[in-house]
Amino acid sequence: MAQRGQVRRERARIRSDHFSTGPYRGFVDTPGAVIQYVPRSGIVDLGWGHPLPALLPVEQWSDAGRTALREHGWQALTYGAAPGPGPLIAWLTDHLAEGDHSTRASEIFVTNGASHGLALVADLLVDPGDVVLVDAPTYHLAFPILRDRRAELVGVPTDDRGVHPARTAELLERLARDGRRVPMLYIVPTFANPTGRCLPPERRVELVDLARRAGLTIVEDDTYRELAYDGPAPPSLWSLAERGTVVRLGTFAKTVAPGLRLGWINADEDLVRRLTGLGYIHSGGGVNHTTALTMATFGTSGAYRRHLSAVRGHYAAQRDALVAGLRASAPDLRISVPGGGWFLWAELPPPVTASALAPVAEAHGVAYVEGSRFFADGAGGDRAIRLSFSMLPPDELQQAAARLGEAVRSAQAR
Ligand SMILES: Cc1ncc(COP(=O)(O)O)c(C=O)c1O
Repeated sequence: MAQRGQVRRERARIRSDHFSTGPYRGFVDTPGAVIQYVPRSGIVDLGWGHPLPALLPVEQWSDAGRTALREHGWQALTYGAAPGPGPLIAWLTDHLAEGDHSTRASEIFVTNGASHGLALVADLLVDPGDVVLVDAPTYHLAFPILRDRRAELVGVPTDDRGVHPARTAELLERLARDGRRVPMLYIVPTFANPTGRCLPPERRVELVDLARRAGLTIVEDDTYRELAYDGPAPPSLWSLAERGTVVRLGTFAKTVAPGLRLGWINADEDLVRRLTGLGYIHSGGGVNHTTALTMATFGTSGAYRRHLSAVRGHYAAQRDALVAGLRASAPDLRISVPGGGWFLWAELPPPVTASALAPVAEAHGVAYVEGSRFFADGAGGDRAIRLSFSMLPPDELQQAAARLGEAVRSAQAR
């Protein structure tokens, strides 16, 4: 009981902390709101990981919707097959095989997106009180999903190339000696949120090997794989592992539209069977059936391929504009140029910290997310900030960079 109360208070703290500052301010309690994003007057906001509105495929999606309804008739509107509709699974199977590894149809379960996929997998794998390892830094909104399972989150040891497999093995040994169960590790190894970086290939192999030996399931959040700008993404952990070691989360949120709330899980057949056997799937059918069938049409018609190629070009140009702007206007920031995804990680010049800079930046009309939010225990990242280039056109990104440069100089002078 006491533990439950503590978990509730911790969740409330995280939520109020998360929603009361920075770019998320206000979005939970805006009655009648249609969308999550809340613009703030006078602020060019680099905090939001949302798409540029003009890149959302309104016309193409409505064409696909009409075609899917014509093609499937009433079957598009009734209860769907448990793992997701056959046409989407068939298209995904072919599509994923063009990427880095073949996936059998029986290894796919259609979800409401990557967040839903994580919640489902955590539900099946994690018991209250378990330790879940998380990359450090990693996608901060995964933390409340995992804490909903009453897991204790522990950051993995890292260096400047990402998770350190040998030191993670030592951590696992220590946790085992303390009698802790560690069923899973969550990581975004490709064009990561928040750093934009990729785990190097040799570390991928070592990590997968460690997980196999330790009986640990790696949950690979592969949300950004297809948004690669400078060449192909590195092989997924899923493609490197024996079945049963890695579960991969995919989503159409970034490549098509987040409002679809559509994605998939790649997992061994046994886990897919457990997912299809869940009570609420039995009761309500496969999730998001009508949208999933529309996505199948969007995929097979070639619209997905055309759209992806167009958005890649735009997001690459947005990244380039932000990088060029920062190099010209904020040369004291240490940045690494991401090869894909939506985010850039910038390190601040000492003694400036992300929390001290935030109000100065807002006074200069620019906002970001503080680095510490991406560490499960909040310890780390105090000198780093996450800048998102997904939601703003190149000229606004250049303006944001100029404002950030002024803010950093002003904070340095204090
Ligand atoms: C790494 C990562 N995983 C998951 C999500 C959310 O995905 P979805 O909208 O499919 O739930 C995001 C969105 O920002 C993300 O960056």
